[in-house]
Amino acid sequence: MFEKCLNMNVAELSLSATLEINEKSNELISKGVKVYKLGLGQSPFPVPTPVVEELKRYAHVKDYLPVKGLEKLREVIASYYKKSQGLSFKPENILIGPGSKELIFIAQLVLYSELILPSPSWVSYAPQAKIAARKYTWIDTKEESEWLLLPEQLEDYCKDHTFNQKTMILNYPNNPTGKTYNEVQLKELAEVCRKYEVIVISDEIYGELDHDGNHVSIARFYPEGTIVSSGLSKWCGAGGWRLGTFAIPESLSWLADKMASVASETFTSVSAPIQYAAIRAFDFDDEIVDYLERSREVLRTLSDFIHSKLTQANITTPKADGAFYYLINFSFYKDKLKGRGIRTSRELCRRVLEDTGVAFLPGDDFGRPKDEFTARIAYVDFDGEKALEAAKKESVDEDFIRKYCSNTVVATEKICDWVLSL
Ligand SMILES: Cc1ncc(COP(=O)(O)O)c(C=O)c1O
Repeated sequence: MFEKCLNMNVAELSLSATLEINEKSNELISKGVKVYKLGLGQSPFPVPTPVVEELKRYAHVKDYLPVKGLEKLREVIASYYKKSQGLSFKPENILIGPGSKELIFIAQLVLYSELILPSPSWVSYAPQAKIAARKYTWIDTKEESEWLLLPEQLEDYCKDHTFNQKTMILNYPNNPTGKTYNEVQLKELAEVCRKYEVIVISDEIYGELDHDGNHVSIARFYPEGTIVSSGLSKWCGAGGWRLGTFAIPESLSWLADKMASVASETFTSVSAPIQYAAIRAFDFDDEIVDYLERSREVLRTLSDFIHSKLTQANITTPKADGAFYYLINFSFYKDKLKGRGIRTSRELCRRVLEDTGVAFLPGDDFGRPKDEFTARIAYVDFDGEKALEAAKKESVDEDFIRKYCSNTVVATEKICDWVLSL
């Protein structure tokens, strides 16, 4: 009934694959099957204790806060970017939103612009463009180039499509690949963006989870055209707190103001106690730095372990630099997979889940071709609190990983055994 009034921009949207895989996982769990959860990209680590304490301290604060966010928080974030990246943002050009996802969506709505997305990319950018009725274009990246966008690929696209204003979302360390760009690569991409006046939304939500703590922002090389997106969800383990940040350059102040207008008519402002707690998080004092160093060490060691296991089993993927993902490629087994009636990445994920109990997501959800046998694993099925505590006393090596990240280790071994038995 009343279906004729459905907005055609959303008609094609379905529930995300994460939910599909969750439903299938829950069905298996209800039958008593042990399920290994490499599907959902959620931080395994707890929110650092001092940040939780701060949230408790401010639980009584009940008033609405300014639309752009608490002034003190915006100042702290501006000085965080100054200290960590040498970038200058005015506090009035910092926006606090209920997750960076919402801020990226509002930016897409406010900008009248074509969206460029390297493929693979995170699941939500393209559906957001659809909702906002914006044109979007995938630029295919290759496993041989470590799934990184090459400057010549961007140049080729831009020089043939000069009419529209373009916005590109560049995410590094990357979900789903775990790869990041080095300084030289960022400089080269920045030059192309400057030449064609491409606005860059630089999604650096995993920046602090560069496994070596060496994250560099493209804004250093293209400050006038780069918006830096981040938040508490990943490095601070606080996805459910819903706090995202946008740092907008002076040249795009009008965007900050118009985004604030949209925010004022929609979400109003982020929850007050969460904003007060975030001040403590973005202060990056010794306790937070220590928490981050241990988080990175665990992730780096685990990702090295997974990479070597997968490589031995001829499941290919370039070695991760950050975050907690791998885009793994089963193409070596394509004939055998087809022989088993598996033709798409979606069928591959369903079959592995049924046969082994390991849940992960098809590459198709990240913009890869449906018939390419790629899939994303999120190596987060372990008790991050225990692992972080243990990392204070024990050396983080393979034995540590086997002891404290055993579900993820077993899941990786199950995937390898599955392909070897094909
Ligand atoms: C690449 C990327 N960007 C943005 C987000 C959104 O994060 P949030 O809305 O929690 O800030 C995610 C969450 O999974 C992500 O993986």
